[in-house]
Amino acid sequence: MIGGGGREHALVWKLRQSALVEHIWCAPGNGGIAPLAECIAVNTGDVGALVALGEKLRPDLTIVGPELPLVAGIADEFAARGLPVVGPSKQAARLEGSKAFAKEFLLRHGIPTGSLYGIYDSASGAYSALCAVDWPCVIKADGLAAGKGVLVASSPDEATGFIERAMVDREFGVAGDSVVLEEGLTGPELSYIVLTDGARVASLAASRDHKRLFDGDKGPNTGGMGAYSADGLLGAGLEEKIRNTIVRPTLAALAKENIPYRGFLYFGLMLTAEGPKVLEFNCRLGDPETQALVMRMDFDLAAVLHAAAAGNLDPSAVRWKPGAGVCVVMAAAGYPGEPRTGAKIDGLAGAELVPGVVAFHAGTRREGATCFVSGGRVLGVTASGPNLAAASGLCYDAVAQIRFEGAQFRKDIGVHAEAQKAPAGGSSTGAASDATSSGATSSGATSSAATKG
Ligand code: AMP
Ligand code: GLY
Repeated sequence: MIGGGGREHALVWKLRQSALVEHIWCAPGNGGIAPLAECIAVNTGDVGALVALGEKLRPDLTIVGPELPLVAGIADEFAARGLPVVGPSKQAARLEGSKAFAKEFLLRHGIPTGSLYGIYDSASGAYSALCAVDWPCVIKADGLAAGKGVLVASSPDEATGFIERAMVDREFGVAGDSVVLEEGLTGPELSYIVLTDGARVASLAASRDHKRLFDGDKGPNTGGMGAYSADGLLGAGLEEKIRNTIVRPTLAALAKENIPYRGFLYFGLMLTAEGPKVLEFNCRLGDPETQALVMRMDFDLAAVLHAAAAGNLDPSAVRWKPGAGVCVVMAAAGYPGEPRTGAKIDGLAGAELVPGVVAFHAGTRREGATCFVSGGRVLGVTASGPNLAAASGLCYDAVAQIRFEGAQFRKDIGVHAEAQKAPAGGSSTGAASDATSSGATSSGATSSAATKG
């Protein structure tokens, strides 16, 4: 396992339940992964060191959690050495690694997405384009910017300030050498993730993350303050529409462009009044969506991933438990800015006595039996239950047990889900009357800079 966040802890936890798994190494891992896997201190951005580790250990399977090593080409390096890996090639990972590439790809193939005003490689070009846009508009640094490279701007002043930070101050380094300027969309967001072996495709249960720091989707963007997955999040009509208008056309377009894709492909969608549209691609699983999803996996993850890496995926093996999974992130003081680290974490054992609850670790460091805060997002307290309200209730019972200085968490994850369903008109397949097609809300349309971590 490559990575050391809550997503990787959740995957390791699930893999441990498989009779096929003898040993797990995790680079670099974290305080929660340490009891489940042998953690090895290698930076996930150091592909050379990861390849050397792969050659030394020769694992039967390598799973890549974060985007950085994928965009840097780790899957190609492993494949070239006969090391089975779950994750797309460098070329395919451009769907996440370059927002300009992703946008042009979507437009070239007529896949629904916000319209493009332009792609600019100079600040002066981007400034002049602002005269002709509608507000809000969205500015995206082209490259990987640890989630900080997107601004939904409601005024020319905000947009100008962000372009200056990206292109003049070069706050995101080379990632900001060009920027994409696009239409601002409104509607509830949805994470739709598929696993493909290059030919066959298995859909994961739909999920939703909450990027804003405060309740009611207010405040600054973060890497994700919580997520849930539940039966009925999508009606069958809307899911079919997402598959027919977005997933299948994307995979067909990749094949047409001779870009084989193997691994997880994450469609970040907005359910607009005109139907679902693509906001972004990720070439990996979402964090914290994965934490909520593992609770609902009714299959042997090791077997499914091994088959996907070998080109033998059986989509019918990918089954989901009815009910819901909810993950509430507990973050350090200061997050999403500079997190305050070092605080001792109390109450973890008590939290995990709540039925159906697992506390996945992200930014923790372990010293013996004690864990300390070591990063921005500290824990993803996750619960399963027969429905969203039950899972969310259990999750918050567990959160109430956990204490560390300055802890921040949202109190509304999975609580007001009814208000988050797809807007009317979100489906035009004749299934617009399905249960998810009412109750429009707006999110993501106010100014914010996204910050992961
Ligand atoms: P990303 O860093 O690509 O994950 O984008 C971060 C967030 O920016 C998304 O989850 C949305 O909330 C928001 N966003 C991106 N593109 C748009 C868009 N065209 N319209 C409105 N919001 C957007
Ligand atoms: N949860 C959003 C992401 O993983 O990028």
